[in-house]
Amino acid sequence: MSDNPNINKLNQLKAQTRLGGGQDRIDVQHKKGRLTARERLDLLLDKGSFREIDPFVVHRTSDFGLHEQKIMSDSVVTGWGTVDGRLVYVYSQDFTVFGGSLGEVHAEKICKVMDLAMKNGAPMIGLNDSGGARIQEGVVALAGYADIFLKNTLASGVIPQISAIMGPCAGGAVYSPALTDFIFMTRNTSYMFVTGPDVVKAVTHEEVTQEELGGASVHSEKSGVCHVAADSEADTLFLIRKLIGYLPQNNMEDAPFITTDDPLRMDEALNNIVPDDANKPYDIKEVIRPIVDDGNFFEIHENYAQNIVVGFARLGGHSVGIVANQPAVLAGVLDIDASEKAARFVRFCDAFNIPIITFEDVPGFLPGTFQEHHGIIRSGAKLLYAYCEATVPKLLVITRKAYGGAYCVMSSKHIRSDVNFAWPTAEIAVMGPDGAVNIIFRKELEKAKDPVKRKAELVAEYKEKFANPYVAASRGYIDDVIEPKETRPRLINALEMLSNKRDGNPAKKHGNIPL
Ligand code: HXC
Repeated sequence: MSDNPNINKLNQLKAQTRLGGGQDRIDVQHKKGRLTARERLDLLLDKGSFREIDPFVVHRTSDFGLHEQKIMSDSVVTGWGTVDGRLVYVYSQDFTVFGGSLGEVHAEKICKVMDLAMKNGAPMIGLNDSGGARIQEGVVALAGYADIFLKNTLASGVIPQISAIMGPCAGGAVYSPALTDFIFMTRNTSYMFVTGPDVVKAVTHEEVTQEELGGASVHSEKSGVCHVAADSEADTLFLIRKLIGYLPQNNMEDAPFITTDDPLRMDEALNNIVPDDANKPYDIKEVIRPIVDDGNFFEIHENYAQNIVVGFARLGGHSVGIVANQPAVLAGVLDIDASEKAARFVRFCDAFNIPIITFEDVPGFLPGTFQEHHGIIRSGAKLLYAYCEATVPKLLVITRKAYGGAYCVMSSKHIRSDVNFAWPTAEIAVMGPDGAVNIIFRKELEKAKDPVKRKAELVAEYKEKFANPYVAASRGYIDDVIEPKETRPRLINALEMLSNKRDGNPAKKHGNIPL
């Protein structure tokens, strides 16, 4: 207590704002296994760095008795703080106040920090826990959402935008996170859907729980809406801090440079990692980890479309985006989901000056009616477009197969990749030996006395001619064939050689990526 009544009043009001909707509602929130809006910010931001703004804001509604319930700060806490000493702007919806529902002033508070984030060029992180549009405020609440959607869209590609779903996020409210770059979810306590289980039952007669309809597992494994799923709220917030470490503050800056590992380090084991049998799988993450700094790889979409792997790492201290076909899942084939997953990641990296390192071992695009009927042509084109359009440094390592259209798509020299390496195990061809021989020697095989023997001879001939990196290297489509163990120093050297890269695209309003 101070002996100055003005200071006392201020402190009293501040203490009141920190209680949100009151201790009873905070207890209910804790019983549900969830933290409060402010507790979350304490975990997300560096200790003591959070500066709240607008703690005295209250709603202006009088309908449905709301004039009798004015709670300072309303249902969202906003401001800024730091993550590892770097500025970020934040909002955190407070479920203890009107269920975190979004009305006029809630939206105004979010828009205000988003404007600050845009003007000052720093990431925007939104922690979502809300019953959606504040029903009592009607269309004004909807207008508030639309104001935020517009700002999300205009901020896209200018500042990194990260959303965490920490509780309910339903109805149109899902579209603000959906417009941001990364969505994090907490398992078992968060869910996202456009229409909830009751509406689903009324319309389609399906019985489904909230978790089954839109929990973290569903969105991180099936829909791909969620980029990172974590087991607890603390883990979710910790992982957001980790991600921020790989990102620049905005599209005009570079990501932080942090050296911790020997750039010349080599790994002998890489020389024998690719099996002799081209149809045998191996785990591409066992290639990525020994190559990147300290073996640290921050995977995005880890459990979705696992036939392609994407994520952030450092190489010689430089933040890089990694895109890698995964031979251990579906032989690393490109399908609709994998193409879209990688395309989105490539575009994020390009927008934020993060070089793209591609590891290629791909047998081609997945055949079949499902893929064709659901638009593999359009989806594959998204990945192609994303790589073509990207002007950040692009490096490629072909570890084994680079077949057909997938050869062109995956950061080939022809679409402006800067430095392309192949391992001696690389096979660069229009298709695999078996398929190729069946097509080009069909008549000969039909007539052959011993078709099995003849086919084996033809396959061996084809392999000798095409299933190696040297035809492509003789044309300059591959810059060098390297020993796998030297991949790390060669990539770091190439990255540094490209550090002043200047490239651009023709002036236009915007391109028309095949959505
Ligand atoms: C006003 C709301 C609210 C809302 C919850 N509350 N949602 N107040 N508007 N949308 C209030 C409750 O009245 C309650 O107040 C407190 O928040 C906690 O809610 P509970 O229902 O007790 O919590 P719980 O049992 O955990 O259930 C959470 C919930 C449920 C599943 C989110 O509240 C719910 O279904 N809410 C409505 C969801 C919804 O339909 N929203 C509109 C979606 S359409 P007290 O005073 O008792 O603590 C939409 C359109 C956006 O969002 C369009 C943008 C384009």
